[in-house]
Parts: sequence; C-alpha cells; structure tokens
Amino acid sequence: MSSSNNKQTIFKRLAKHAEAMQTIHMRDLFAYNKERAKTLSLQLPDVYIDYSKNIITDETISLLLNYAETLGITHSIEAMFNGEKINTSEKRPALHTTLRSKASQQLNIDNTNIIEQVHNELEKIKKFTSDIHKGIQRASTGKPFDTFINIGIGGSDLGPKLVVDALNEFRKENTRSFFISNIDYQQIDNLIQTVDPETSLFIISSKSFTTTETLTNAESLKKWLTECGIKDINKHFVAVTANDKAAIDYGIPPENIFNIWNWVGGRFSLWSAIGLPIALAIGFDNFKQLLDGAHKMDQHFKTTPINKNAPVILALLDFWYANFLEAETSATVAYDESLKLLPDYLSQLFMESNGKSTNLSGHVVDYKTMPISWGSTGTNAQHAFFQLLHQGTHLVPIEFLAPLKKKGNQAHHKMLLANCFAQSQALMQGENNSDAHRHFPGNKPSTTILYSELTPGTLGSLLAMYEHRTFVQGLLWEINPFDQWGVELGKKLAKTIYADLEANTQNNTVD
Ligand code: F6P
Repeated sequence: MSSSNNKQTIFKRLAKHAEAMQTIHMRDLFAYNKERAKTLSLQLPDVYIDYSKNIITDETISLLLNYAETLGITHSIEAMFNGEKINTSEKRPALHTTLRSKASQQLNIDNTNIIEQVHNELEKIKKFTSDIHKGIQRASTGKPFDTFINIGIGGSDLGPKLVVDALNEFRKENTRSFFISNIDYQQIDNLIQTVDPETSLFIISSKSFTTTETLTNAESLKKWLTECGIKDINKHFVAVTANDKAAIDYGIPPENIFNIWNWVGGRFSLWSAIGLPIALAIGFDNFKQLLDGAHKMDQHFKTTPINKNAPVILALLDFWYANFLEAETSATVAYDESLKLLPDYLSQLFMESNGKSTNLSGHVVDYKTMPISWGSTGTNAQHAFFQLLHQGTHLVPIEFLAPLKKKGNQAHHKMLLANCFAQSQALMQGENNSDAHRHFPGNKPSTTILYSELTPGTLGSLLAMYEHRTFVQGLLWEINPFDQWGVELGKKLAKTIYADLEANTQNNTVD
C-alpha cells in the first residue's frame, strides 16, 4: 500500500474510532484501568505531563502515532535539526535550535558554520550586558543605564516580554524593563511618564527592520529623548535585526547592531539577540540557563521515540481534537502568575504558525488546521470563563500548567495547586444531579503540565517544547509553520488608508 493510501486509511480509522469514543466517558476509562494516570503520562527531567484526562485510549494513541509515522515524522524532525529548507515557501531552513546549541557543535549551511556565528553573537551580548550592568557602558549623561525599553512587535516582543515578566524574581537589582509594541501612542505616553530619559536604553528589535509600528515608535521615542535634552542619542539606542543595512541607514552605528539571521522565524527568535532585553533584565548567566533548558528539550525531541516524545504527544492530541472531535478552540490556563503572558505568546506561536489553509503542495486543505488558542491564569479564570468549560456546549481541550514548588507563602501555593488539580478532576468526572442546572456532565478533556519550579532552565524547556509541538502540528496538517503570508494584506491596505488620512482625502475605492 502506498504511503498516501496508508495515510488515508489511518485517517479513516481515526474518524471511525472517534465515533466510538463519543459513547465512552473518561470516568469509566479511569475505573477500568487503575494504571491510566501512570501510563498516559510523561516524566521529563524538569517537566511532568499528565495526559490521562483526555478522551483517548491506547488505541487512539497508537492510531495517531501510526498516522504520524506515515507522514515520515522522524525524518522530518531530523531534517529540521540538519538545516534542510523546511520553510518551503521562503526556501529557508528553520534553525532556531542552533541558537541554544553547544559551542562544540557544528552545522554548515552554505559553507558557514552557523553555530560559530551564533556563539560569536552570544559573546557580543554577554559583553554588552555585562558592560551595562557594571556601568562600564553608560548613558550620554554619564549615568549608568537602569531602564531597558524594547521597541518591537510580534515575535520581536511577545517572547522576550513573557520571559522577562516570568523571571522577574531573577531581575538585576534596581533595573526596570518596558516593552513598546503598539502603534497606539497611549503606550508611549504611559511610558514617558514613568521613565527617566537620562538612564533609559532603547532596543529597536526588528528582524526585517521594516515594520511600521516598530520604526514609527522608535522615531517618536527618539524625538522625545531629543526634546528631553539628551545630546548623544546614539548612546541610547541599539538595534537587533537581520537587516544591518536598513539599521545603518536608519542611523544606528554598526557597533550598536546585534545580528539575527533569516533562518530564524520571528516567533522562534527569543533565544537570539531578540532576547537581548532578557539578558539585560536577568543577566547573561540566567539567559544562558534559559538556552540550556531549551537545549535539553531539543535533545529530548530529537532523540526520544515518538511514543514518549512530549512535543509529539501534545501535537497529536491537538490534531485529534481539531480533526476528529471538532474542537474549534483550545485553552491554556497557567496556575502560575509568572506565566500570565503565556497565552498571548502561544496565540502567536500556534496561530501565526499553523493558522493556514494551504498545504505544502500548494493545495487548499479539506480538513481543519490550528484551532483558536486562548487562555488566562488560574484561579482568575475559574471565576470568569470556567462556567462554559464545565457546562457549556463547546468541546474545549484545556492545558493546565503549575509549578510544584514556588517561593513565598506556602498556604497560598497549596491552595493554588489544589484548585488546579480540582478543576481537572471536576472537568473529567463531572457530578450527577437531578436538577439539570446543577448537573455536571464531565468528560471534558484536560492535560496537566507540572514543572519543578519556574527557573530560567525550566522555562527554556517549556517554551522549546511548545515550539517543537508547533512544528509537529504543522507536519500533521501538512502545512509550513514557518511563514506568515496572511499578515501581509492588512499591512499593505493600512499604508494606503494612512496616506488618505494624512492627506485628508477620501479614496472612493475604499469600502
Ligand atoms: O507581521 C508579522 C510579523 O512578521 C511577525 O511574524 C513578526 O514576529 C513581527 O511581524 C515583527 O517582525 P519584525 O521583527 O521584522 O519587525
């Protein structure tokens, strides 16, 4: 049987199996199999994943794994790590994993060892951040920098902002960080009321160095600095980009430019110089630990058989719910205030990567791809949208995250964990009640991801796990997760409309 026939056969078997699963309640699956929580879980060095409270049986997993195999998943994983041009529409490799590689590794692309390039840039980041922290490199006023302001959007904002917020406990003393992304001037207005121009360092973060929001915000902040009487503006601005020329033309001195490369996608780039605001906030050593944590996950993804491979299993579940159980959305609920920005970050990672309807051969697909990804923090979410999760009409697979250990008030932490575990139990078990309003049907799926403690290392592992899961989702849907053509049309139209607004004219071709 050809692999395509084989694929279709397994897809059909999955669809049939899904029908049968509609008549089964997870409560019964737990009752029949006392080992269920043990067998449907994965223990990684820093992360524990319990996926037993999903509407699956061993047969589901086995069929899903077979399906992935017919798509040549192991070969595709190797191809990504080896630098093959898997970003087919842009004819580029996707090499974010090299950003957290060991200096001793080697990967030649077009006769250049890119791992050496990566480590040279890391050395530059290390020296720069250390000089800033030690007060060797100072502001034009001679004062040390204590405020780091990132100007960037999308992948040049969400990843670094999440990490800086999540690892606040590791922050360099007496420093503050801010992130300016929105073209809405209100963000800048709020910023300039709280920061001191004399001690502020601005990082213009843009892979393309063409993004209107970023360049406009940078221009406005430059103007503000000048109005504040700052003389040598250049000392206050650095740039991170893959487009040196544009940054130099913009007026950034070459020594203030940190490089990234075309082979790293924006939403996969926090490990590169796009992570400069992270290194400035928590120090280079902690930044390095973040990279090491991600590297550990890379090794897990690369070397673990697919039936025990965390990113693979999580992506298979995403595929199962979207394509066989008709889930239109999926929610991430972190029982960890430090991860309050995770849903925003994931919405870009998942939806910009896999919110597509054209497959790798250029054909429109006849199946669903990435569902809508959203979420919030527990326990807040319990008092907001959990009503719908427990008693609503939509099937919403939920992912809970929680740290086993957390510094600070332990009574609060135990209560937080108790709530997290209680929710997954309530969603799965439900509760019968003769009053229909008070009846909980249960059988609502969730996965629980526990980590020992949120450190730079564990956070690095978690985020790399989400990146690889995104890649596997793309493999299963046979789409390219590394391009984002869908964002272009709006950008183009906004330019024309802006020109009309500026000229105060009305273009009759606009609806
Ligand atoms: O418009 C989408 C996008 O290209 C994202 O993919 C990217 O992360 C963001 O814009 C910012 O792009 P840049 O870093 O080139 O400014």
